[in-house]
Amino acid sequence: MTDHHAAHDAASGYFSEGKSEEVVLARMAGDMSPRLQEVMTAVVRHLHALVKEVEPTQQEWETAIQFLTETGHMCNDWRQEFILLSDILGASMLVDAINNRKPSGATETTVLGPFHVSDAPRYESGANICLDGKGEPLLVTGRVTDTEGRPIAGAMLDVWQANDEGFYDVQQKGIQPDMNLRGIFTTDGDGRYWFKSVRPKFYPIPDDGPVGKLLRQMGRHPYRPAHIHFIVGAEGYEPITTHIFTPDCPYLHSDAVFGVKEDLIADFTKIDDPRKAADLGFPNPFDAVTCDFVLATPQQRMKG
Ligand SMILES: [Fe+2]
Repeated sequence: MTDHHAAHDAASGYFSEGKSEEVVLARMAGDMSPRLQEVMTAVVRHLHALVKEVEPTQQEWETAIQFLTETGHMCNDWRQEFILLSDILGASMLVDAINNRKPSGATETTVLGPFHVSDAPRYESGANICLDGKGEPLLVTGRVTDTEGRPIAGAMLDVWQANDEGFYDVQQKGIQPDMNLRGIFTTDGDGRYWFKSVRPKFYPIPDDGPVGKLLRQMGRHPYRPAHIHFIVGAEGYEPITTHIFTPDCPYLHSDAVFGVKEDLIADFTKIDDPRKAADLGFPNPFDAVTCDFVLATPQQRMKG
């Protein structure tokens, strides 16, 4: 085909393999939102490039459509299969990295994941977020500071984690109490907070849907290393969405969703202090972890 004919294709609106992107892109209206135009141009270019590279059979294309259809059907209020798909392809972490380029000294961020709920109970420091008493007790203490190390009073920490069997409350409705292992805490005048929980355990991402099947077909396991989720925010500072990880987890180097960063691996210690254990209602010795967070201002992030 000559260039002359190809040019004619785009202008005419007729389709050809060689000029497929141009034909599709030429159909966009000139007065559309510039950002949507930018995004859809990239979507069409990359989608066409992918199809041209892979050259799927009709049957393979139907398989791809069927996969996305099943992914959508798997979604409900408590299960977000598209987030899982984004997670296991590393796309969630890439979006997170692009949106948190900040050599500002703030704590590193990682994926939100699909198990956050927006209406977790608010607690005073010292509360136990483990509502059913199952698991190895863990004392979590920490401090929220600015990048100069000054305490941030009134910072909010939204915390959530899986139970000792590796399930979040929303995955076990009727088995775990609602809002088990979730809570929102506020720092005191010295930027400190503390609460009681249980040691987190590694768990598989939900793998009974199309994303789990895809993982198996790619020879990958579905496990996430043990972690506790945090969203930390304070007025005048950029909020961070992050986790802390246990240092001894077998899946630390092969997180199914690529969420691990070295700085987020926390120090877990054993505390042997019978009096303190008795005060907490914990056995002695018990596990403890310090989770300190540093927040940057929007101005600091802009500079980063
Ligand atoms: Fe998680």
